[in-house]
Amino acid sequence: MIPKTLNDREPVPNLTDIEAMRATFSWDAARAECAGLPDGGLNIAFEAVDRWVAAGCGEAVALRWLGKNGERRDFSYAELARLSNRFANALQRLGIQPGDRVCILAGRIPELYITALGTLKAGAVFCPLFSAFGPEPVRVRLVKSRARVLITTTLLHQRKVREQRSELPHLEQVLLTDGNGDEPGTRSFHTLLEAETDHRPPPRTQPEDWALLHFTSGTTGTPKGAIHVHEAVVAHGLTGRWVLDLRPGDIYWCTADPGWVTGVSYGIIAPLVNGATLVVDEAEFDARRWYAILDRERVNVWYTAPTAVRMLMKMGAEALCGHDLSALRFMASVGEPLNPEAVHWSMAALGRPFHDTWWQTETGAIMIANYRAAPVQPGSMGQPLPGIEAAIVQRRPDGGVDRLPPGVEGELALRAGWPSMFRGYLEDEERYRQCFADGWYLSGDLATCDADGYFRFVGRNDDVIKTSGHLVGPFEVENVLMEHPAVAEAGMIGKPDEFAGQIVKVFVALKAGYEPSDALRKELLGFARTHLGPAVAPRELEFAADLPKTRSGKIMRRLLRARELGLPLGDMSTLEGGRSQNSGV
Ligand code: WT7
Repeated sequence: MIPKTLNDREPVPNLTDIEAMRATFSWDAARAECAGLPDGGLNIAFEAVDRWVAAGCGEAVALRWLGKNGERRDFSYAELARLSNRFANALQRLGIQPGDRVCILAGRIPELYITALGTLKAGAVFCPLFSAFGPEPVRVRLVKSRARVLITTTLLHQRKVREQRSELPHLEQVLLTDGNGDEPGTRSFHTLLEAETDHRPPPRTQPEDWALLHFTSGTTGTPKGAIHVHEAVVAHGLTGRWVLDLRPGDIYWCTADPGWVTGVSYGIIAPLVNGATLVVDEAEFDARRWYAILDRERVNVWYTAPTAVRMLMKMGAEALCGHDLSALRFMASVGEPLNPEAVHWSMAALGRPFHDTWWQTETGAIMIANYRAAPVQPGSMGQPLPGIEAAIVQRRPDGGVDRLPPGVEGELALRAGWPSMFRGYLEDEERYRQCFADGWYLSGDLATCDADGYFRFVGRNDDVIKTSGHLVGPFEVENVLMEHPAVAEAGMIGKPDEFAGQIVKVFVALKAGYEPSDALRKELLGFARTHLGPAVAPRELEFAADLPKTRSGKIMRRLLRARELGLPLGDMSTLEGGRSQNSGV
């Protein structure tokens, strides 16, 4: 346990007495803190940007964009309000209706932030696609979302979309951020914006209107589209204030890419709702560059991933040398287990601990956290947010759940009903229903809770893995490999990795007539990378004569994993049997 001594030169934490707050909290009170729309509605973009303009704070810097070639560009709240109005006007001119999906496939460029906010203002649904996805994950998500508009760059369009346009009947408009739109079937994003005015009446959305669509993976089937509504902003704002300790004027850096939920909930919405300046770095991870940004931009609050923390640890003190990080007030991480060594390292090297936080695409916002005012328990994800009831449960065969006592491992569950809870999986009512029992949302994570209410992550009860904080499901990876003529079967596992947490590894059984060889391994890895993109593609591939399967013919990935780790197979198969009721194997 790392006790906290509050530095009296620093502001008092936004959330000081967590227990007292838990006793008195109500979501209705939190709802009442939103500005709201003039007609009684609610809109995420209005809460994030226009509200500040209306309050006379429009000149504050909302977005500080750092380009990969050294560019530095500030956007004030007023400028973001105007540009997102223009984009919303453009969507309206294109005939986009409330509820229609608008996708973006781009890196961390200013247009992404304008698109997100403008889409929300237009009442359409913002759906980000990770720019490091290959053509196949992009196609699957564009098909499933039925996106009518895609914003992207010339290069990404050429590489990942153009050849598949004929398979995307719903996609009417492709808007290029960096071109004149002289490619067939495309238009220029900027030309479109130039033709619009800065003005737009306030949005007309209601709290339960769809706002965000985030794809996430499960063990089986195509990615699930988790739907969030405008009311989610209540939880984004509150967790930004209480967990990340954000306040107006803070310089805040969330290193997550907006292609994933963290990069939207905490890389766009939460900091703007709290009046902070959002630092956005277009470049990829680089320890020296990161320390330089923290120093030069005087970052106060930093939200990142354990993989990045481990990479910084690896680079040692030398990379940090000469940099002044004294502006940092609070540091937190999310997405994968934060190992205690990383917390101890940050205490020694940076003078403060990283605070682990836990949540999911489905929860929309942070649910469990180590707070600025509370002692940090290295190795623990922390305690639930006031307003959130979390428990460790076990599913009963009759479909109900039983709560388990402290210290006993079970499934992490949350009492359903918080504002940023997902409202459905797109076109998959059944899968959504299966996530709930007896009024609890079942997270699919295995965890324990101690007598003091601190939760510890144990693992997942499905075959989904985390690599560098990115969620990867076996279905997409195995399916692509099976498209190759040599592959009969493929099974994906997460192989433990010192830095990435896990890496994607596949076991492949070949069709008759094909022999394992180094050349074939390279070919298959290359094939997977071309189709899936570097974020999802396997890093390792091993040939196997055949893959272990259940009686019903499903690949037993846990057994592959046990073999890989050299765990006793006997024990593992008992475990497999024990968990089979949970996971439906
Ligand atoms: C899964 C959710 C993180 C929010 C955005 C990603 C794992 C998340 C932690 C943590 C251990 C964690 C869980 C969870 N996870 N936070 N602090 N410690 N594991 O959301 O992509 O839907 O991933 O990430 O397994 O279920 P996501």
